Formats: sequence, C-alpha cells, structure tokens
Amino acid sequence: MKESISNANFPRDAEDRVYHISVKTGDVANRVLTVGDHVRGRRIAKLLDTEEETGHPIFEKQSQRGFLTITGRYKGVPVSIMAIGMGNCMMDFFVRETRASVDGTLAIIRFGSCGSLTTSAPAGSVVVPRGGYCIRRNLDHFAEEPIYPQLKDIPYFFSGSFKADDGMTQILAQTVENALAPAIEQGKPVGPVLTGGLNADGCSFYSSQGRQDPVFWDDNEELVEEINTKFPDTHSIEMETSMLFHLAQCARDSTKPIKAAGCMQVFADRVGNSFIRPEQVDILEPLVGKACLDALIKVNIENEMDVAGTVWE
Ligand code: URA
Repeated sequence: MKESISNANFPRDAEDRVYHISVKTGDVANRVLTVGDHVRGRRIAKLLDTEEETGHPIFEKQSQRGFLTITGRYKGVPVSIMAIGMGNCMMDFFVRETRASVDGTLAIIRFGSCGSLTTSAPAGSVVVPRGGYCIRRNLDHFAEEPIYPQLKDIPYFFSGSFKADDGMTQILAQTVENALAPAIEQGKPVGPVLTGGLNADGCSFYSSQGRQDPVFWDDNEELVEEINTKFPDTHSIEMETSMLFHLAQCARDSTKPIKAAGCMQVFADRVGNSFIRPEQVDILEPLVGKACLDALIKVNIENEMDVAGTVWE
C-alpha cells in the first residue's frame, strides 16, 4: 500500500483514504463525536443503532497511526465516533483529514477530560466552554542561540481566544445538564455542569499546563497565575478543544464549514490538587457520552451526506 501513496502535500492511499486516519468519503458522517480515549469511544459506540435495526453494518476502522473511526446511526441519524488520542497535533490530523473526507457541513462535538482551574468545577464536574485559547512553550526561551532574542524572556506564549459554535454549545450544555440532573439530585458524586467560560489548551500535559516537574527546566512557576490574569474566566485546561475551535474558525471553504462544541469531564482539580475517582468516572462517562450523541443529532446542519446506503467495510 505504501508505494501507492501519492501527493506529498495531502497524502492518500490508492483507495483515496487519507493517510493518518485512513478513511475515505462515505466512511465518516457529517456529525462526529470525537474523544481521546479509544476505550471511551468503543463504549459510546455501543449506543449506536444495531445492524438489525438499520439493515447496515457499523463501519469500524482502526488506523495504523492511532485513530479509530466508528460510523453508524444513532436514533436513525448517521453519526461517527472518532477516537484520536491526545494533543493539538492529533486534533490537527483529525480535523483536516476528516474535513477532506466529508462533503457539506461538519458538526463536531469533542468529549474529553480536563484539569479545572476553578473551585466551581471540582473533579467529577463537567465543563462546557464558550471558547478557548492555546498556550505554547516558547522553545526559544530555552535555546542557547534564540532565533528571536527579543522574545527570549517569554517562556510561554498565549494565543487569543477562539469561539465555539454558539448554537451547538447551547444544545450541548442543556443536554448534558439534563442528563446529569437526576444523578446530582440523587447525591451521586458528579456535577455540576459549568458553562460560559474558556478552555486553555496546553501544548503539553506538563509544562504548559503549569505542572511543576523538578526534573526539567520549565520556568512555569508563574504560569497558572498568568492564566488567571490574562483570562480570568478560564475554567478548564487540556490539550485538544481550543485547537478544534481554532481550526473550525480557519475552515475557509464556504461549502465545507465546521461547527464545533466541546465538553470535558474534570479529572484533575488543579486548585484542590485532587484527581477523579474511578467510581465517579463510571457514573459520569456513560451519562455525558450519551448526552453528547443526543446533542449531536439535534444540531441543525446543511448538506448532510446520506451515508444510509453506504456499504461500510
Ligand atoms: N487532560 C489534560 O490535558 N490535563 C488535565 O489536567 C487532565 C486531562
């Protein structure tokens, strides 16, 4: 297969599959729920309509580069669940290659996990941000001969913020709130749902999220304080969702827009320095995963491809 790859600018294989995700047109629906964790992706995929119900097998493709795509129908509506791993770079592969494999509007909901920078979102709560920005380690700060000496004193760069799709975010927030309400009422250790704030994407789980690691020279002791000063309404910090919002905004073919929203389970309470317990995840993840699918099929999208007749491999 490798010999048949052509076009170094946007590689595809002989069957026209994009190189890293390994899907082609017809394999991915216009509505995509993306997660990081493959196990989470497969668990959520159990909610899809069965082959007996739809008359079509569920498409599944695990790429050699660590991407998982599962396409089927949820309550009769074509959806894909795509697990992409972690980080801005994987989000970039996913958004560009998925965009190249679907005609019409692409509606993407990201369901991930995050750290929380506010006491309003303890471990076990869910954050639905209105937008997000990115924090990048400035490698030149650490270089003996920086290319940009005038920027050497700045160890971490902040971007401006990028908006999530308003309508989708409202639908997602409402659906997640409704899904968690009974569990919260019953006193289970999940919730609340925090909306309206910003998400920060670090380029690392460690240094650019302000974690202290004595083994490495990071110059990040002031970073969390800087986050709170520059963007005081930052609720969450992780590595993918702001990049999704950024790329959605940069999709410039008007026939191929991207609408994006995201929600994250708070795993790391960075204020209280605690981590979510497995029994909280067991309650939270199925509720939020289902809510994401319910929200995804409520989104109004134009030019939806009919993948109903597709013979998925
Ligand atoms: N994911 C992250 O990137 N950071 C966290 O603290 C938790 C999950």
